[in-house]
Amino acid sequence: MTAVAPHLWLRAETKPNERRTALTPAVCRTLIAAGFRITAERCSQRIVPDDQYEAAGCTLAPTGSWRTAPADCFVVGLKELPENDDSPLHHKHIMFAHCFKGQAGWRDVLARFVRGNGLLLDLEFLQENGRRVAAFGYYAGFAGSAVGIDVWCHRLLAGPDAPVPKINPFPNEAALLAHMRDRLARAVEKAGRTPRIMVMGALGRCGRGACDFATAIGIPESHISRWDMAETARGGPFNEILDHDIFVNCIYLSSPIPPFITKDMLASPGRRLTVLSDVSCDATNPNNPVPVYYGASTFDDPVIRVSVPESAPLDVVAIDHLPTLLPLESSEAFCKDLLPSLLALREMDSSRVWTDAADLFRAKCTEAAL
Ligand SMILES: NC(=O)c1ccc[n+]([C@@H]2O[C@H](COP(=O)([O-])OP(=O)(O)OC[C@H]3O[C@@H](n4cnc5c(N)ncnc54)[C@H](O)[C@@H]3O)[C@@H](O)[C@H]2O)c1
Repeated sequence: MTAVAPHLWLRAETKPNERRTALTPAVCRTLIAAGFRITAERCSQRIVPDDQYEAAGCTLAPTGSWRTAPADCFVVGLKELPENDDSPLHHKHIMFAHCFKGQAGWRDVLARFVRGNGLLLDLEFLQENGRRVAAFGYYAGFAGSAVGIDVWCHRLLAGPDAPVPKINPFPNEAALLAHMRDRLARAVEKAGRTPRIMVMGALGRCGRGACDFATAIGIPESHISRWDMAETARGGPFNEILDHDIFVNCIYLSSPIPPFITKDMLASPGRRLTVLSDVSCDATNPNNPVPVYYGASTFDDPVIRVSVPESAPLDVVAIDHLPTLLPLESSEAFCKDLLPSLLALREMDSSRVWTDAADLFRAKCTEAAL
């Protein structure tokens, strides 16, 4: 079979604050060397400047021009398409569409593809041997740990009730680490002790990132508790969590489990815990293992405060887009993992990653009665 080199069209992200990219210049360079054509839309919010795409051999195109791209293009992006547009979609789109799990408006999104005879190849469901080929988990955990520790530092440095200000993305990991090493050093000096942190789901992608961040800013191993299935096998709740300053929940919730902590436990005398960073963000799931708060927080307003009668409050971070704290490194890690699958687009019809993705799209359309 003769391999046909595909044409990828990197669209500009339009979601506010989204600075990540679905294709880095390094990945573009490799794909172009393998015979791909790549068009990159100009995008002022993307962490990588446009000229780096040009230098990698991509052709630049105006923002939003994917709509009139050649019919055989794969339109590549991360986030949802603009919601105020209901036009039919004609292309093959590679993206996170968030419409395969019955999310609000899922039928409307799928209907656009069906009306335009397009195809949705959803990044969240690309799998090889039962494992996701690319995910943002590591940097979600890294960032979740960072924000949790930052909130702990804030309480010491700015006062127990000072509002936690907006957190902006960092240009790179080194800048985040330098900022947090300084804040931690000052907070530790004020507290007279180093915080203890527990990471739940420590063996997973997010969990590894959360532990690595704590280590990278100088929290000693003796102050990092790494828990996973073995430690929770006896069933919760777990008083051990209260002996830590910061609890970072990173588990993948796949079946009902007893809670790790309960609201009643927060009234325990001697509780050390003052910050929960819930990377898993399962607050709306009936089996949420950390049922002490409701809702979600954002980088603009990072903390949900849980009041506890006659005791210190608990500050909860529940941000569901954590990797945007480090748009550069999270994009690089994601794209590196995605690259082998992108190269396999040359033989799309015989590549299981892509044929399974196309089959899943059709199954979801059937489920939606489209
Ligand atoms: N907030 C965000 O921005 C963000 C971004 C990416 C992923 N996530 C979420 O983070 C969660 C974890 O994702 P991941 O990619 O790290 O998953 P993963 O499968 O790589 O890791 C999950 C880990 O949790 C452990 N675990 C599961 N049940 C447990 C239990 N009862 N007790 C202790 N450990 C348990 C598993 O053994 C595994 O090590 C998912 O819910 C995902 O949706 C959040």
